[in-house]
Amino acid sequence: MCTSATCARRSRSAPRSRVSSSPSAAPATASGPRRRMRLSIPLGLRPRLVGGLLLTSAATLLAAALFLLPPLEQRLRTDQLASLTTTAQTARTSFVEIDRAGARPGSPSLRRIVEALERRAGARALVVAGSGRVLADSSPGPSVLAPALDAVRSARTVRRVTSSPDGSVAEVATPVTIADLRCALVLVQPVQTAQSAAGVVRRAFTIAALIGLAAALLVGMGIASTLSRRLRGLHDAVGRVGAGGLEQDMPHDDARDEVGALTRAFAAMQGRVRRQEEARRAFVATASHELRTPIASLATVLELTEDDLRQEPPRLAEAVDGVVRARRQSERLAALARDLLDLSRLDADVALRREPVDVAESCRAVLSEFAERARERRLALGLEATAPAAMQERGHALADPVGVARIVRTLVENALRYTPEGGSVNMEIASRGHEVVVSVTDSGPGVRPEERETIFERFQRGSAGQGAAGFGLGLAIGRELARRMGGDLRVTDGPGGGARFELALPVGPQPPVGAASVDLARTA
Ligand SMILES: Nc1ncnc2c1ncn2[C@@H]1O[C@H](COP(=O)(O)OP(=O)(O)O)[C@@H](O)[C@H]1O
Ligand SMILES: [Mg+2]
Repeated sequence: MCTSATCARRSRSAPRSRVSSSPSAAPATASGPRRRMRLSIPLGLRPRLVGGLLLTSAATLLAAALFLLPPLEQRLRTDQLASLTTTAQTARTSFVEIDRAGARPGSPSLRRIVEALERRAGARALVVAGSGRVLADSSPGPSVLAPALDAVRSARTVRRVTSSPDGSVAEVATPVTIADLRCALVLVQPVQTAQSAAGVVRRAFTIAALIGLAAALLVGMGIASTLSRRLRGLHDAVGRVGAGGLEQDMPHDDARDEVGALTRAFAAMQGRVRRQEEARRAFVATASHELRTPIASLATVLELTEDDLRQEPPRLAEAVDGVVRARRQSERLAALARDLLDLSRLDADVALRREPVDVAESCRAVLSEFAERARERRLALGLEATAPAAMQERGHALADPVGVARIVRTLVENALRYTPEGGSVNMEIASRGHEVVVSVTDSGPGVRPEERETIFERFQRGSAGQGAAGFGLGLAIGRELARRMGGDLRVTDGPGGGARFELALPVGPQPPVGAASVDLARTA
């Protein structure tokens, strides 16, 4: 602030020096090598994917062949034996009417029976006596005495499959009694029938396997080509961003798969870094602009004061006035420097402490700092704690004590600044779920709904701030600090139309027993 005279003189003599508005703020990303990266991968995604798919389908088909074909063959063989057994057992009744004369080798009645059986069952049929003599044989061939004698001896049906160089043979011998003579009816059938059925399945299986492998190859190549094309696009885009800076466009990929997600994540990251970069540039530009004005005005005030002191006699009253204004300007500069330092610390991600903070004690300390100013502005300033019993247990937040005090100080300072004289500023501490909430309510003009988010942005001031000193940094720093501590800083309507700012902090553990307990009902 300056009088018209001083302003006129200031325009004549104000230092022209400017704080550089970030000429060197070239994006860090642009400093990378300009050369475009080439994608040279010895064993790329496509051969791996196709190979993997082929291998998997081959393994699947092999496993299916191993686990499917042998049981199938076994099953066919069992079925063949079962069907021969049924035929043999039902054929037993045919021998009932044969008399003793018919029970001899070469008997025509036996011959008829075995030939009929051969026609019906498609199997060689024999009748073997217990002595081992063959009484009838539909089509003579290798000896089948062993199962026949086994059946006669055990009086039970004998079934087996024998293997010879000519192939496997299914043999079923069932005991029959022909006119008191204990004999065996034997049915012999090559297992070729079963084998040929299994052969058909095997051939079908091989064709299916080949078709499956070809399909796997085609699908694999298709997927691999698409994937590698998309990945190459992403790779090229990342290379372009690395070489040419954040302004380069990232490809759009709406696919709901990992590559799509990766592309979108890159685009989101690029957007975030771009916004951070813009915020950084805006910060440097605004900060230098904000610093320039108070520094220039301080220089002017000091120059005028020097002039006043050099007069004969010195104009002491004006000089004192100048010193007072210079002090105010330097306080304003100190506050700005403090805010800028805090911001740069936040931007540099300086770690905050995490320890139990006695919130009520912190608040009380801050309130006592402002007691004098509240009296000057005839404002009632107080601390109220709801649910004091609960607060005894949960009044501790897990936070950075300096950060907490910094936020509370900003809230009280704002409330005192924006509340007209004669009003009131009240502070409450309450425990809500897993949060300790400090709220500062005032009887001032409140915050307009459309400004409730913007006032938390850097260098943004609301309508209440117009005309008052300030840089629009306090709430931005406060919210960022609160969120870094795992809490939040929000604004709502106060009960009488004023503003109500709420600082929520995560509840922390109790400090060790013996620490002074706080009387929360006490008023600051
Ligand atoms: N208690 C309050 N009552 C009304 N408006 C407020 C209050 N506190 C903050 N504001 C609004 O929020 C803006 C941003 O506050 P802050 O970040 O502390 O910056 P500054 O106080 O320097 O303007 C203020 O300009 C003002 O419009
Ligand atoms: Mg402020």
